Amino acid sequence: MTKQKEKMNQPGLLLTFEGIDGSGKSTQATMLFHRLLKEGYNALLVREPGGTSISEKIRDVLLDIKHQNMADTTELLLYAASRAQLVAEKIKPHIDDGVIVLCDRYTDSSLAYQGYGRGLNTEFIKNLNALATQETIPDLTFVIDVDLATAAKRASVDDPDRMESEKNAFKKRVQNGYHAIAEQEPARVVLIPGEEEVDALHEKIWELTIPKLELLKTSKDQ
Ligand SMILES: Nc1ncnc2c1ncn2[C@@H]1O[C@H](COP(=O)(O)OP(=O)(O)OP(=O)(O)O)[C@@H](O)[C@H]1O
Ligand SMILES: [Mg+2]
Repeated sequence: MTKQKEKMNQPGLLLTFEGIDGSGKSTQATMLFHRLLKEGYNALLVREPGGTSISEKIRDVLLDIKHQNMADTTELLLYAASRAQLVAEKIKPHIDDGVIVLCDRYTDSSLAYQGYGRGLNTEFIKNLNALATQETIPDLTFVIDVDLATAAKRASVDDPDRMESEKNAFKKRVQNGYHAIAEQEPARVVLIPGEEEVDALHEKIWELTIPKLELLKTSKDQ
């Protein structure tokens, strides 16, 4: 029996991973997911955009390199639509069931990319995020912070998608956006200097996760 299955009526957790393309989000999200399973927790790993059949179709539209003429507002709304479906279909039901949900990109990506990166109104994006997520706010958000050169080296792929093919000035604005978000919400958002090797970063992330797991146990013991 997993630790959480002992009492199923307590909500789980939502942990999200953020950062520019190639920062190491998916690597760390996958490592934390496997660590949680090994420790006996009930966990789910999902990614954005995507994670449901509808959201994966929206992902294809968003990332298609042919869609260079996509309007910024279309991009914002498609990300929100993909998120709304993922939250309704997977994230919220699992959290309600006591599961620890790990999400590879979430609301802060819209703020950083469409807000700070594209220049759309950040207050409007916060409201749209609240609508799309039914106000499901992460318990903890890890922003993996690496410089653009490191990210480019790590992400080097032969056929970049539409977002990956953006120029450096855009990526720099996105990175600055993540820094601003971390400053504005220090209780939720942790900036992880991401230049270190994979295992060292995982240990840092694990140490930061433990207090949240303790909270989960405390609420379950009541
Ligand atoms: N700390 C690290 N040191 C060196 N290489 C790393 C590190 N973390 C990840 N990598 C490597 O960098 C590449 C990109 O990592 P990963 O896919 O996790 O990044 P990502 O942030 O999820 O990228 P994307 O935004 O494109 O999905 C992978 O080949 C991965 O093995
Ligand atoms: Mg990834």
